[in-house]
Amino acid sequence: MLKFAKHFCPTLLPRGHTLVPSSSLVPGNDPTLLFTNSGMVQFKDVFLGADKRPYKRAASAQRCVRAGGKHNDLENVGYTARHHTFFEMLGNFSFGDYFKRDAIQFAWEFLTGVLKLPPERLWVTVHISDDEAADIWIKEVGVDPTRFSRLDADNFWQMGDTGPCGPSSEIFYDHGPGVPGGPPGSPDDGLDRYIEVWNLVFMQFERQTSGELIALPKPSVDTGMGLERIAAVMQGVHSNYEIDLFQALLRATSEATGCRNFEEKSLRVIADHIRSCSFLIADGVLPSNEGRGYVLRRIIRRAIRHGHKVGQEKPFFHKLVAALVEQMGEAYPELAAQQQHIQKVLLTEEEQFAKTLDKGLAVLAGKLESLSSKIIPGDVVFTLYDTYGFPADLTNDIARERGLALDMAGYEALMEQQRDQSRSAGAFKMDYTAGLDLAGETSFRGYEGLSSETSITALVRGRFQVDRLSEGEEGVVVLEHTPFMPSRAGR
Ligand code: GLY
Repeated sequence: MLKFAKHFCPTLLPRGHTLVPSSSLVPGNDPTLLFTNSGMVQFKDVFLGADKRPYKRAASAQRCVRAGGKHNDLENVGYTARHHTFFEMLGNFSFGDYFKRDAIQFAWEFLTGVLKLPPERLWVTVHISDDEAADIWIKEVGVDPTRFSRLDADNFWQMGDTGPCGPSSEIFYDHGPGVPGGPPGSPDDGLDRYIEVWNLVFMQFERQTSGELIALPKPSVDTGMGLERIAAVMQGVHSNYEIDLFQALLRATSEATGCRNFEEKSLRVIADHIRSCSFLIADGVLPSNEGRGYVLRRIIRRAIRHGHKVGQEKPFFHKLVAALVEQMGEAYPELAAQQQHIQKVLLTEEEQFAKTLDKGLAVLAGKLESLSSKIIPGDVVFTLYDTYGFPADLTNDIARERGLALDMAGYEALMEQQRDQSRSAGAFKMDYTAGLDLAGETSFRGYEGLSSETSITALVRGRFQVDRLSEGEEGVVVLEHTPFMPSRAGR
């Protein structure tokens, strides 16, 4: 019924835009993309002309994760006022309908007319080649040419290595001379004074795997505005972590970790990470050793390490889900509905990592004492990964706090060596049930849950199938199905 209502009575927003709900963080239409990293992902095929919708103008508030692939902000979290692993992107889209002129006019009208931001606090950029957009901004909108620059790579946007793309025009908010940093295009534009609040992408091309650009069937528009960044502007604060939502999460993080110092960077990292981890789990991702699941595991383990750093050695991360649901559960009922499940998955991961975290940190501390350079050797990074379950970016996070770097080339070489070994071991792998008359296979149910009721299909002792295994005896238990994924210990 709800589906029916949504289909036939779309919410119409100003200027004829149809409100489209956020899609999942796991892109349903795109195996090339790790996570939904912007509002346009659910419309990718519409831009390419391969999908048709009953509207030509849309707007959305899209949940996004940027923690892997082309757009990866994981390393910046906690170090800047504006980067997150999870954020919400507001956007308006035109599918072969309006183009540059309207997109620019709408954006300016919304920022200065609706949000009432003073034009002298805004700075506009366009692609170095885009005379048309430059003329619209300066001659038609009347933007001050001294608050305007033309950039190259920074003003060309694409969602991934392939797919729809085009030149863009970005609008920055100047947080004032009290904050370090220079305007876009200046040497210190990476600092926090001028913060990009809105990106207008003039979708014109599709990038092929060969790198070649081919024209889209119709020029289109994709825009993206970070909700947390514009909320900071509207709430009169500089850092995203000062907005109401993050203040609530930071209070909960302080409570759960016992750390009362709100200036502590680790609290911000944890408050950021609980959002990406909870939403990823709500969208069906589970911690694992590869693909999306490994990105999730890396984020969870970083959060746990930061908790440990501020003195919390017991599981705490799962406790933050309740505070998150309080903040965002109304907007995302799917998050609220899965609170118990998310807490359980996080607690399990916390308990598992707790077994190796202390030992790994002690091993690293020992190695750092005898370090004669500013580089942590690849074999140390590898041992921490392989034996103690430290993803390399977690070790890098610790290294960065001490002004050190990692020998990533050495680490990668050892990883490659290990992959080769397991490939050749795979060719001669031990089959404990070889030669036995066993029918069927054990099916894997780990994606459906973390426990499972099943039956034993066979018991094997040595090379023989047996009826029972007595206490103290070693053997193999073959199950009909199992939630356990075979893996090397520790990782
Ligand atoms: N798709 C526009 C952006 O992510 O900035």
